[in-house]
Formats: sequence, C-alpha cells, structure tokens
Amino acid sequence: MCGIVGIVQRDTNKIGKNIIDSLKKLEYRGYDSVGVATIENNQVKVSKEEGKITEVIEKIQLDDLHGKIAIGHTRWATHGPPSKENSHPHIDCKNEIAVIHNGIIENFQSLKKDLVTQGHVFQSETDTEIIPHLIEQFIQKEQMALKDAIIHTIRKLEGTFAICVLSSLDPDKIYCAKRDSPLVIGINSDRMFCASDIPAFLSHTRQVVLLHDDEFVTLSHDGYEIINFTNMKRVERRPYIVSWKPEMAQKGGFPHFMLKEIHEQSSSLADYIRIKQPSLHKISEKVYDAKKVFLLAAGTAHYSTLTGENLIRKYAKKPCTSIIASEYDSISPLIDEDTIVLPVSQSGETMDTIMAIKDAKKSGAKILSAVNVIGSSITRHSDDVLYLYAGPEIGVAATKTYTAQTLSMWDIGLEIGRISGELGNNEYDEARKLYNKIPSVVKQTIVRSEALANRIASWFAEKNSSFYLGRGLNLQTAKEGALKMKEIAYIHSEAYPAGESKHGPIALIEEDYPVVFIAPKDQTHKRIIGNIMEMKARGATTIGVIEKGDKEIGELVKWKMEIPKGYSEMITTIPYVIPMQLLAYYTAVKKGLDPSYPRNLSKSVTVL
Ligand code: F6R
Repeated sequence: MCGIVGIVQRDTNKIGKNIIDSLKKLEYRGYDSVGVATIENNQVKVSKEEGKITEVIEKIQLDDLHGKIAIGHTRWATHGPPSKENSHPHIDCKNEIAVIHNGIIENFQSLKKDLVTQGHVFQSETDTEIIPHLIEQFIQKEQMALKDAIIHTIRKLEGTFAICVLSSLDPDKIYCAKRDSPLVIGINSDRMFCASDIPAFLSHTRQVVLLHDDEFVTLSHDGYEIINFTNMKRVERRPYIVSWKPEMAQKGGFPHFMLKEIHEQSSSLADYIRIKQPSLHKISEKVYDAKKVFLLAAGTAHYSTLTGENLIRKYAKKPCTSIIASEYDSISPLIDEDTIVLPVSQSGETMDTIMAIKDAKKSGAKILSAVNVIGSSITRHSDDVLYLYAGPEIGVAATKTYTAQTLSMWDIGLEIGRISGELGNNEYDEARKLYNKIPSVVKQTIVRSEALANRIASWFAEKNSSFYLGRGLNLQTAKEGALKMKEIAYIHSEAYPAGESKHGPIALIEEDYPVVFIAPKDQTHKRIIGNIMEMKARGATTIGVIEKGDKEIGELVKWKMEIPKGYSEMITTIPYVIPMQLLAYYTAVKKGLDPSYPRNLSKSVTVL
C-alpha cells in the first residue's frame, strides 16, 4: 500500500519525468493521489493532487519539475480520505523538510498532540505528517543536524514504515529508512534510486540492494551508506543483479497489465518448472516429518494454499490446515517447535502474513515459504524458501502469481507423495509428466477461451450478482474465479461448494441469474451434473468450465469454456482458473473499468 520512490542524479536532466516514470511502475501499490517533492533554488517544492498519475499530470505539470533530487509517492489512503491535503509528501512548518511514507505510525496521535502543544501546525489527517514536524523539532530544540534529527525521529516511531526524506538543509541527499515496510535501493552510474519495489527502476538498472528492518540509508548521486538505526553500526551490503528484465514491467502491446499477465502464464509456469530448486526437497521432507503443518496466506494466495492443504493431507497423511493470515490468532495456541508454518505470498510483504510469521517464530515454529519476490520480508523471516519465478506482477488482481503459487503447491504435494511412498514410482512419473505439460495446457486454454470469455462478458457485465460453484479441489478454483469477478468488475460473486448450494444460495436464483460451474471430468463430475440441473430448473443461466468433449455437461450449460483433455484427475486447479480470469477481465473492460487498477484495492497490503 502506497508506493514510494526517491531519485538522486548527477545532472538536472528531467528529474520530474524520471520520478513520474518510476511512480507509474508503483501505481499498483495505491492510486488515489500522487505527489512529488524536489529542490529548486535551494527551496523544497511540493506538488501533489488527488487522483491517478495520468489524471494528476493533466492538472499539474509534475513531469516538468527541475533539480537533481526528487521523492515521489502514490497513495492508498489509510489515515484520512484521498485528498490533496492528505497526499504525500508532507512538510514541516518551515517548508524545509519533505517526507513520504508507506506504512502506519501507530503512536502518531500522542506524538501529534505533543507537537501541537509545541506550536506545530498540521495540514492533513495523516499519521505521516508528524514525521517532518518531529524532525523539525529535533533540529530546532536540540540543535541537531538533519541526519541525526531523522534518526532520532524514526526511533520514536511505533508501527511500520518505509520513509524517504528530502530537505533544503542538505539538498544533495535523500535519507530513507525502513521497518516492516519494503524498501530497496537501485544503483545506476548516473542515478541512484530508493523505492518500495524493484519495477520502479528496472528500466534503468538491475543492480539492487535489499534493505533490512531498522536500516537507515544516506543516498547521494554517487553512493549509499547503510547503518542500523537502533545500534548505529555500519552495514556493508553489496548490490546483487536481479534476473528480471525491464520489459517484464511494461505492457508489451497489451491494453492492460492484467491481460498481459494472464497471457504470460504459460511462460511463467514453464520458468518455475525449468528452475530446479534444492529447497523443494528440503521443504517437502520437513513438512512430511512435522507433527503439525499450517499454511498461511491472504487473498488469492490463500486459495492456492487450499490446494496445498488438500495435497498435504492426501500425500503426507497428516492433519494440515490452511489459515487466512489475519485469522492466525485462532491457531496461535497450537504453534510450537514441532510445527511447520508455510506462508505463501506473491509480494512477500503482506503485513498480516508477516505478523503471523513473527508470532509463529516466537513459539518455535519453522517457517518454510513459497514467495515470488526474492529478498522480500517473508523470505528473510523464512528458514527455507521456494521461489515462484513468476516475474513482476503489476496488475493489482493476482493472475500469473496465483497459478505459480498453485503450481508450487502441486510441486510440494508430489514431492511429499514420492517421499511418503503414497505415489509409487510409476504413478509419480505419470503425475510429473502431466505436471510438466501444464504450461502448454494453459496456453491452449487461453487461446480457446479468450474470444468466448469476451462474448460472455457482454452479458455478464449487466449482472449484479453471481455464484461460482465447485467441488473438491476445485472449490478453491471457484473461490478464485469469484474473487477476480468481484475485485475488478465489481459484480458481487460468491463461491460455494456446489453440493452446499441447495442449503441457502439457491433461494437467490431467478431467471437469467449467472452461475459458473467448475466441472472437470473427475470424481466430482456426476454429482455436479445434479447441481447444474437444480440451478437450471430455477431459471439460472449456467456457464461450465469443463473438459473438452464433455458432452454430458456441455449440452446442459448455456456456455461451455473448454480445457484440453487428460487433466481431470490431476492438476485441474491451474488450467480451470484461466477462463474465469479472462471472463473477469473482459467483464471489467465491458463496464469501462480499468482491470489493472481496481478501486479501493492495493496489490501489496502492508497494513494490518
Ligand atoms: C487478489 C490479490 C490479493 C493478494 C493478497 C495477498 O487478486 O492479489 O488478494 O492475493 O493481498 O498478497 P500476497 O500474495 O502478496 O501476500
């Protein structure tokens, strides 16, 4: 939530354009207002406005700003509604210090009260605004230099933060610090960056320094210095070269990032399969040996862990529960040294997941995670990590990372099946053959279902409400499909176990009510036919995601979205979600919405 970026460059060339280009890459983190601070003629200049970047640059000339240094922010409101006043950067009373922030300052009210008593005047309702005033206070009352004042300020903050500070008192440097919110440094020969995420500078450099909690950085055009702000020790950390390519964070000819990322799935899944990770065996073995296993995730990632939960129960023959990260407290009493907690996350920065991990670690649990972003907070809290290798995902609604997360669950499941002997040699080899074909099945599914999804979307776009029904493993596929529809097309969509639908949901069915069935040709097939009949008898319009050539269901439903044959018993949860991603995407487009940036959502939820 909220994207922050800072740039210090050698020359004054196009600083405004540069900061805006970087901010556009972070817009997936929040997009209700935008602001930039620069230093011109030794004065801090703040330009900010409510709205998305493209709207804001039409109102104020952000890309015309001059100078060698700039910080920029794209906001996802927490304290105070979206407005110009609440947009970042925030400044001190003398307009000498500008601050941008991602996170939540939990003790801001008491700090603000003190500052108001001391005569500071506040312009916004945000928690962030106390930071420039507190820095100002340390400079004024304690005669501190800017850097010391910033360090003293951040030591007073409780909660989570990644902050960048720019000041006319030290006009060649950006100071930044982090605790629990992400911050990375990008190094280029004529420009240095600090940002919430790597895509902000990926088109300029692949040299990255990952910052850890409680670190403070002084950034100038020719270098960076890191210290730990709690013990003031210097930290030596060299950059590493990230394998992501710049074009991965661009639309590549697609109208929206979301569609690009849907199409990328066959190659991202192939990358995951191609890269053999030693952690797979270690993680699978530890899960198999553990007394208790809990999977932990939020949102879409949680639906992938439901696949994991089923597979671990099946192949390790042990109780395993997938818990929504924000509901972790309910399992906290069960966590001890004999427990494995397996978090799954795209960003590796979801605050609910991080807080649950921290608590589980305190109780002695081992943390084995599946994460997309290398070096993210969750990876650093983990004893072992399986990387998803899906590349950067910009669209707010997860698509390619959901299928990568689900594939990683299958990977672990099959490995456990081999270790436990539940899968004999031949069965295991057969299963792996099917698994290896997933990228090509996904590709064929996209080709086959895209035009139909576009057609159905014209009808779906008129609806207010829908059901997504599935059984067994594909109940979670239904959940993921319904989540996509509600997130980006704003149509209320509820997923339900198909068998349970007659215990309530059926009361809502009336003429032309949309019901989507996930109905592969497996052991659930016969029973789901009964559920389709029940819905049709009450006037529902049915859509079936089915195996190609499945006449029984194909003749029952109004629209059939077909998946290539041969995957009915194994690994259905990956290809069967594809038509629903496309359906949600095209429905949003028909409604004139931007599917990549749905209202009120943020890709990385870094608040509790
Ligand atoms: C939905 C979506 C979110 C994320 C959730 C967890 O399309 O993207 O529900 O899945 O915020 O995020 P990560 O995986 O980064 O922990």
